Amino acid sequence: MARGPGLRKAFAEKFDDELRFFKGWIDKPKAVGSIIPTSSVTARRMASVIDTESGLPVLELGPGTGVITKAILAHGVNPEDLYTVEYSEDFVRHLKKQFHRVNIIHGDAFDLDTTLGDKRGLMFDAVVSGVPLLNFPVARRIRYIENLLARIPEGRPIVQLTYGPLSPVPAGKGDYTVEHFDFVLRNIPPTQLWIYRRPGFGRAH
Ligand SMILES: C[S@@+](CC[C@H](N)C(=O)[O-])C[C@H]1O[C@@H](n2cnc3c(N)ncnc32)[C@H](O)[C@@H]1O
Repeated sequence: MARGPGLRKAFAEKFDDELRFFKGWIDKPKAVGSIIPTSSVTARRMASVIDTESGLPVLELGPGTGVITKAILAHGVNPEDLYTVEYSEDFVRHLKKQFHRVNIIHGDAFDLDTTLGDKRGLMFDAVVSGVPLLNFPVARRIRYIENLLARIPEGRPIVQLTYGPLSPVPAGKGDYTVEHFDFVLRNIPPTQLWIYRRPGFGRAH
């Protein structure tokens, strides 16, 4: 455990992340969706769905200040195998300073063919999404999930966080299943995690 200057530095970094996040929320409340970053408990839970033995890269959408990015790396994903897509230029600058070897892409997670550029054809093991879907129309959320499912092998998960009680993407509106994965109380606000995948496969995450 950090002590003395190490502890002060850790506190300063955490506070800096929270301030940056809050500033992002003031600038673009609809895009950022929350006033403070996700807790490390939620981040670890989301990262746990990734199969590090698959040999495939991982896609993270809406990384913000990088709490979930950090958990994905701690789960055992090589930085070079992680692609993150963030809309806010300020967050992108911050992420690039923190994660030198991660592929940090500035762009729109709803338009991945454009945003991923020459990487648009990549197959990913799983998708970890922090994009605030509730701020977008339902039809757009459904297109978002369908588009992502085409980028991962059949049966592999998209894990999505949300603050509402229900899945932000309704069941029965497309070729995907909806599973409630977890409810994390130790998050401000408490967070629901949902998993989407193509139907007809087992539930091993
Ligand atoms: C609720 S915050 C989550 C941030 C971080 N993953 C966390 O859990 O602390 C939503 C993030 O999604 C980003 N975002 C919103 N719309 C986006 C879009 N269309 N494409 C990519 N990122 C987007 C925001 O800028 C913000 O960083």
